[in-house]
This record gives sequence, C-alpha cells and structure tokens, in this order.
Amino acid sequence: MLVLGIETSCDETGVAIYDTEQGIRAHCLYSQIELHAPYGGVVPELASRDHIRKLLPLVDQTLAEAGIVGAQLDAVAYTAGPGLIGAVLVGGTVATGLAMAWGIPAIPVHHMEAHLLAPMLEDQSPGFPFVALLVSGGHTLLVDVAAPGDYTLIGESLDDAAGEAFDKTAKLLSLPYPGGPALAALAEQSSIDKFNLPRPMLKKPGLDFSFSGLKTAVMLKVRELESAGALDESTKADLANSFQCAVVETLVAKSIRALKHTGYKTLVVAGGVGANKKLRADLSAELAKRSCRVFYPRPEYCTDNGAMVAFAGAQRIGSGQPAAAGVVANARWALDQLPVI
Ligand code: KG4
Ligand code: ZN
Repeated sequence: MLVLGIETSCDETGVAIYDTEQGIRAHCLYSQIELHAPYGGVVPELASRDHIRKLLPLVDQTLAEAGIVGAQLDAVAYTAGPGLIGAVLVGGTVATGLAMAWGIPAIPVHHMEAHLLAPMLEDQSPGFPFVALLVSGGHTLLVDVAAPGDYTLIGESLDDAAGEAFDKTAKLLSLPYPGGPALAALAEQSSIDKFNLPRPMLKKPGLDFSFSGLKTAVMLKVRELESAGALDESTKADLANSFQCAVVETLVAKSIRALKHTGYKTLVVAGGVGANKKLRADLSAELAKRSCRVFYPRPEYCTDNGAMVAFAGAQRIGSGQPAAAGVVANARWALDQLPVI
C-alpha cells in the first residue's frame, strides 16, 4: 500500500510517501523559517497562505522523487489537528481534493499520534507497551501507550510546552527564531551549569510539568546581568546552558518516574525538542543505568514532517479506519480520545 502524507499544522510544509512494503519512498520538507523570522515567531495567517503556495508543488516533487504517479497511491493521510486551524485546513482541503480526484480515501491523522509513532520508521523500532514523552512547540505530554492507538495521558505541562519555553527563553537572550535550535546551539558553547536555575515541579509528586516559572527565572537573571553590564556572549551561553540543563533534568526525571509508574521498560521520545542533543544523551545514559531502553526518530522525523503522517495514516488504514466524509480540522484534539488501532 502506498500512502501520501501531508503535514501543514504549523510552519513546515511536509509531504512524504510511505510504502508498507519498502518504508519511506520520498520525503520533502519546506520550512517557513525565513517568512516568520522578521516577526520573531509564527504568524498564523502567513503560515496558511504559504502552505497554499507550497503544498501542491511539494506533492509533485515528492511523487517525482518516489518515481510514482498519483494514480498509483492507495490513500492520502493528512494532519487534521491539533494545530493552527488555518494551516490545518489547507492541508486537509488539499488532501481531500487530491483523494477525491484519485478516487482513494483521505485519512485524518492526529499530529501527536504521528509524532508518537515516528520512531517506528527506524530499523530499531520500539515494541509495545511503552511510555511516550512528546515534547513539541505546543505540547509536553507523558503518555502510557498500552497498544497502538490505546493512549492514556499520565502527565502534561500545566503551562508552557517545553519547546515553547525554549522559544521564549531564546527570545529573552535575543536569539533569532526558531529559538529552540538556536538556544541549544548556544548552550553547547558552555560546559557549566553556572546559574543552577529551578527544576520545576521536581520535588512535587506526579508526572506533570511546568515551565513558565523557569522562563521567568531566566528573565530576572537577564535583567540582573544586563543592569550589571555582565551579559556578555560567554555569560549568555552559560545562561542558555543552565536553562537547557534545567529543562532536560526535569524531562529525564519525569520520564523515569513515568516508567516506574507504569512498570514499562521502554521510553519513546518524539516531537521537536526530541531533536535536542543533550536530552537524547542524558536520557540514553540514565535509562541504560536502569536497564530501560529509549527510542527516538532520527532528528528530521522529530520535528514536523510528512513521513510521520504518512506512516500514522497507514496504521489507521491498516486497522480498518474508514475515510473521512469531509475535511476534518481540529485546532484542539485530545490524544486519548482516538479509537484503538
Ligand atoms: O514538533 P515540532 O517541530 O512542531 C510542533 O508540533 O510544535 O516542534 C517544534 C519545537 C519548537 O518549539 C522548537 O524550538 C523545538 O521544537 N526544537 C528544539 C530543538 N529543535 C526544535 N528545542 C530544543 N532543542 C532543539 N534541538
Ligand atoms: Zn509537531
């Protein structure tokens, strides 16, 4: 079966073709970074308009790279939410139109389920059950994944998502959009956790997160250093590193707590922050000590992409999920309300 996957939930236009026999046949991504950079963040209306401009040419490019024509496809899967509603509508409308033209089903996909299943695109694929740590720009979730589609939310951020905290802290340090990767790169220039920022909610029991206090702690430190004329480049790098250490330590500790809570031995990490090198290194080291295993998608499948959507769509079709009657678009959509695959 050949499934075309379309991702347009935020600021990346992603298209891919997943072949249930051969895996990903082609995967193309167009990033809107340059478009949003002057504004320091994603402008939803501009994002929607750019998806309109870029999506169909990207579909053509992906088909050409895979060496197939549309008529050979078996289904079109698309991100139907959660995400920026205008951007999601573009992907859903194009996907539904193409599916009608080709006489094949259009399958709505939950963006976070697509992230969660992305590690299964790798040769070393996790077995069920597992705990998923989903860390993106909009979500920080710990999910008990008992079986495909059987998701129970066991922890989440009470305020900012981990990626959002990276992005907002990057702004405080005057780093360019997109902040997360820029802040991570700056942090790599420092080797000390000089500022020992708070580890939010670590002392409290439970699996929830909170990152807004940490962001405020950075803001206060920036003001203090600026007024003392001490915010030079190397101090900025130390501050970025201290922030990254605090976030990573919190994510690692709560993931270990979630594994203990469920009794599972496998952790899956996905979403844009899952591309963070320190998070990957620390999780691997800490879980190895506890005879647990951690699985990640390759970095390009951690951030938004069409491959994960095509793959998740193929799993949903495989379980007999019917095509949607019209365009499905949800700005918000609870992961644990999905039908079991
Ligand atoms: O999953 P994703 O591509 O889009 C959403 O679904 O939100 O995640 C984007 C988020 C952004 O907040 C971005 O700053 C963050 O992931 N991110 C990172 C890194 N790469 C992307 N955060 C920390 N370190 C990184 N290397
Ligand atoms: Zn995402």
